[in-house]
Amino acid sequence: MNTLIFTVLAYLIGSISFAVVMSRLFGLSDPRTYGSKNPGATNVLRSGSKKAAIATLVGDAAKGWLAVWLAIRLGPQYGIGDAGVALVAIAVFLGHLWPVFFRFVGGKGVATALGVLLGLNVWLGLATLVTWVVVAYAFRYSSLAALIAAIFAPFYYGLLFGADEILFAVIAMSALLLWRHSANIGNLIAGKESRLGSKAAGAK
Ligand code: G3P
Repeated sequence: MNTLIFTVLAYLIGSISFAVVMSRLFGLSDPRTYGSKNPGATNVLRSGSKKAAIATLVGDAAKGWLAVWLAIRLGPQYGIGDAGVALVAIAVFLGHLWPVFFRFVGGKGVATALGVLLGLNVWLGLATLVTWVVVAYAFRYSSLAALIAAIFAPFYYGLLFGADEILFAVIAMSALLLWRHSANIGNLIAGKESRLGSKAAGAK
C-alpha cells in the first residue's frame, strides 16, 4: 500500500510541467506552440530566455530528484525496498511524459531523468550529466547529447551497482527517452535538427 501511495505521489509530482509553469511566470509564449513544441528546457531556451530555460531545467530535474530521494530516505520506515524505489523512479518520469495536469501532453524526460539519476546516486547523475555536457559542447545538439547520455546511463548504473530492480527502471527510462526523441533522430539524420542557442520563430 505504501509503495502504491509513493508511486502515485511520484506520478503527480512528475506531472508538474515546469516548462509551462515557468513560461507563464516569465511572461513567455507557451512552449507547446513554438520550436519543437516540446515542453522542456531546450525548447524554452528557443524563446530567448536563458533564465526561464534554467528554471525549467532545475524544476524538472528537482521533481525527479525529490520523488526518488523521498522514496530512498523514507523507504525503510514505510517498507519500500529497491523495487519500490524503481517504481517511484519510473512513475515520476512517466508523470513528466504524460502529465495528468496538462492533458497528458508532456516532455521528453531529459531533465527529469537527470534528477532521478542524481536522486539514485550523485555519481551516477554526475557521470550522465558530464556525458550530456561533453556531447552538447562538441556537437551543439541538445537532443544528441540526451540520446548519448541516455544510452550510457544504464551502463554507469550497472558498473556502480550491478544488476538489480533499479537497473531495469533506468533501462526503461532510457528506452522511453530514446523513443520520445524519434522526431529528433529523424531531424538529426536529415541534418534539420536545430542547434543549441538558435531561437524559434513565433516565440516571445
Ligand atoms: O530536452 C529535450 C531535448 O533533448 C530535445 O528537445 O525541443 O529539441 O525536441 P527539443
